Amino acid sequence: MDDLRDKYVSLIAAASDESTLEDLRVQAVGKKGEISLQMRQLGKMSPEERQTAGPMLNALRDEINSALAAKKTALGDAALDERLRGEWLDVTLPGRQRPAGTIHPISQVTDEVTAILADLGFAVAEGPQIESDWYNFDALNIPGHHPARAEMDTFYTHRAEGDDRPPHVLRTHTSPVQIRHMEAHGAPCRIICPGRVYRADYDQTHTPMFNQVEGLAIDKDISMANLKWTLEEFFSVFFGTEVKTRFRASHFPFTEPSAEVDIQCRWENGSVKVGEGDDWLEVLGSGMVHPKVLQAGGIDPAEWQGFAFGMGIDRMAMLKYGIPDLRAFFDSDLRWLRHYGFASLDQPNLATGF
Ligand code: PHE
Repeated sequence: MDDLRDKYVSLIAAASDESTLEDLRVQAVGKKGEISLQMRQLGKMSPEERQTAGPMLNALRDEINSALAAKKTALGDAALDERLRGEWLDVTLPGRQRPAGTIHPISQVTDEVTAILADLGFAVAEGPQIESDWYNFDALNIPGHHPARAEMDTFYTHRAEGDDRPPHVLRTHTSPVQIRHMEAHGAPCRIICPGRVYRADYDQTHTPMFNQVEGLAIDKDISMANLKWTLEEFFSVFFGTEVKTRFRASHFPFTEPSAEVDIQCRWENGSVKVGEGDDWLEVLGSGMVHPKVLQAGGIDPAEWQGFAFGMGIDRMAMLKYGIPDLRAFFDSDLRWLRHYGFASLDQPNLATGF
């Protein structure tokens, strides 16, 4: 027994991995292991011999088992130490920079406008940017000879020689979406249509492509009062302060009566503060939808009426975020985008505020 003990104690001490250790366990105390075989001999012994050999064998088996267990733990600890040494990591190192883009102010303001008006019950509608002249003009009560066609600095597409259909246009406003929506969904309705529009014009406050949002509400008893309330509510939430509006009589072929809407503001060292002072800034066109426009959209003007407005999104972004030059919106200058852009998690909504 002493030989067996010496042999296994030194083999276990020398084992360098868990599979060697497992082999040793089988050899010593497994079913056919050396110690187990010895224990099986107990039956053949005389009772006296058994009385001394039995407890000694049991003690030997227990000793080997605990030597195996201790070695197993030691091997596990050593493996863990080894891994910790290999996978060591300096958590005090500065993080790696990841380039992150920003949300363009136009996208941000479009989302803001949409969230506010959605809360007032307006759904979003869309239409194509290349329009037939019927949707862009005729259906909106702007016939061929009308001066408004010339005023809008329209971009026309090319027609093949001999094709004398009127050319398509790049839409000059979002108003054609009014007609498309009326045709497809009828009345009543409450929609807004944000999107790109085009006019051949270029200076500090005009670019050949810019963004508008159209509003249209049609029902049986809608009046200018609903229009005024909707716009004042909108501006106050958008600018985060109560904003007075001023309606000036105006003319659009597609609304009657028509009003240009100014918001209250104050000028200070060349920059403008909205919602204070007693200056006014023109921000949109609006009015009651002209009966001929309802008719063009397939809606009976004897039964229905509504208001419409069209607002420049870019201008709203310039006013709210103090951006002085419209042209910079479309220059894709990374320094400008990093400065005026928004974090992608800065999602505008009613709960977080605007
Ligand atoms: N479509 C007009 C424009 O672009 C704005 C407008 C829309 C005016 C709806 C009245 C009603 O100038």
